[in-house]
Amino acid sequence: MIMKVLIVGSGGREHAIAWKVAQSSKVKKIYCAPGNAGIASVAECVPIGAMEFDKLVSFAKENNIDLTIIGMDDPLVGGIVDVFEAEGLRVFGPRKKAAILEGSKSFSKDLMNKYNIPTAKYEVFTDADKAIEYLKKENDFPIVLKADGLALGKGVLICNTLEEAIDGVNTIMTDKKFGSAGNTMVIEEFMTGREVSVLSFVDGNTIRIMTSAQDHKRALDGDQGLNTGGMGTFSPSPFYTPEVDEFCKKYIYQATVDAMKAEGRPFKGIIFFGLMLTPKGPRVLEYNARFGDPEAQVVIPRMKNDIIEVMEACIDGTLDKINLEFEDNAAVCVVLASEGYPVSYEKGLPITGLEELDDLDGYYVFHAGTKFNEKNEIVTNGGRVLGVVAKGCNLKQARLNAYAATTWIQFDNKYMRSDIGKAIDEAEEEN
Ligand code: AMP
Ligand code: GLY
Repeated sequence: MIMKVLIVGSGGREHAIAWKVAQSSKVKKIYCAPGNAGIASVAECVPIGAMEFDKLVSFAKENNIDLTIIGMDDPLVGGIVDVFEAEGLRVFGPRKKAAILEGSKSFSKDLMNKYNIPTAKYEVFTDADKAIEYLKKENDFPIVLKADGLALGKGVLICNTLEEAIDGVNTIMTDKKFGSAGNTMVIEEFMTGREVSVLSFVDGNTIRIMTSAQDHKRALDGDQGLNTGGMGTFSPSPFYTPEVDEFCKKYIYQATVDAMKAEGRPFKGIIFFGLMLTPKGPRVLEYNARFGDPEAQVVIPRMKNDIIEVMEACIDGTLDKINLEFEDNAAVCVVLASEGYPVSYEKGLPITGLEELDDLDGYYVFHAGTKFNEKNEIVTNGGRVLGVVAKGCNLKQARLNAYAATTWIQFDNKYMRSDIGKAIDEAEEEN
C-alpha cells in the first residue's frame, strides 16, 4: 500500500520524523499539523494545533490518512490515540492509559517500585504540610522535588538545603507554578552519575532498543543556567557500555514493558528511558512516552530501517519480526537558540545560510521554531530555532562537522552552547 501519513507536532523532533518518513518507499504524501518552515520542505503543513483532536480527526478522515504519528507528549497524555482509534483511524503512539508512564511521575515511580525496576528512593505527597514534615525528618540534601504531571520539562527542582526544599514545595504545591501538575508531588533521593537517553520501539509485548544518546539540558556552557528542552545531543553515548546495556536489558527495558502489560496498560509506541549511570548501577530517572527532542535528531538519522515498517509493526504487534539496525558511526546536534531562551527572546528574525546544508551528505538542519513571514522568508519563531546535525565516523568527527555547520547559518541573537559533546573527551580520558 502507498500511504498518506499525518505527523502531529511542530518541533525539531517532528522534523526529524518527517524527514525519515519521507524516505519510506511506502509513503506518497506527508502532512504535518501544525509543522514549521523546515518541515514544509518534506510535508504539507496544515494549521491545526496538536491539541485540536476533533479537527485532526476530521482532517485525517477527509484526506484519507492511512497513518497518524504523534510526536509530542501533550496530545498523547491527553488521549489523542484513543480519540483516533475510536474513529477507526490508524495511529502510532500509546493510548492514554499507557501514556501515563510519562504523564504522572507518581504513577511511574509506583510502577517501578512494584516491579523492582531500579530507580531512586521516593515518596509521593498530595499535601504540602506532610511534604515539609517529611523533608525535615529526612534532612538529607540535595533532594529532588518533582511535580507529578507534565510541566514542559521544568517541574523538577533540585534543592540543596531545607530552606530551598520548603520553598520548592510551596512553589509546586501551594503557588501551583506548574499548574495542576503540582497537585501531587514526588520527593526523590538525589542521584549522581552520567545521564543517558535510550529510546525504544514497543508493540505491547516486544521492545526494540535504539542506539543511545546524551542530552544537554542546561542553557549555558558547563551545565550552568536554567533547564531547557535540550541544547544539543550526541549519539551514541560512550558511557553506554555493553555492561550497562546488559544490566538494562535484564532489569529495566523488558521489565517496564511487562509491568505495563501486567497493569492492563499495554504500551505501544516509543518508550524513552532517561537513565542515570550511578556508582551503584543504572537507575531510571524518568520515562517519556515519545521520542526525545533533540535526541530524535541524532538517533533517527543513524537508523537504517524504514521507520514506517517499524511503526506499523508496533501497531500490529509484530515487532518481534523486526531487526532494528543503526549505522556504525556517530552524530552530534547543536541547537541554535535565540539569545534569552528559555526566559524571553525575540521572534521573527530572518535566517540565512540554510541552503548551505541542502545537498551535503551527513549534514541536516532540523527546524524547531521557524516560520515563513509575509515576504516568504524563513524567520525565527521560538526559543530553540534550529538543530544543526552532522554525522561523522566517530563522535569527535561528528562534533567537528556539526560545529562547522553552525557557522554557515546566521540570524540575529543566535545563541548556542560551545561545549556540546564535551563528555566525549571526558570518556576518552577515563579510558
Ligand atoms: P526528569 O524530568 O525527571 O528527567 O528530570 C529532569 C532532570 O533533573 C534530569 O535530567 C536530571 O538531570 C535531574 N534529575 C531528575 N531526577 C534526579 C535525581 N533523582 N537525582 C539527580 N538528578 C535528577
Ligand atoms: N530531551 C529530553 C526530552 O525530550 O524530554
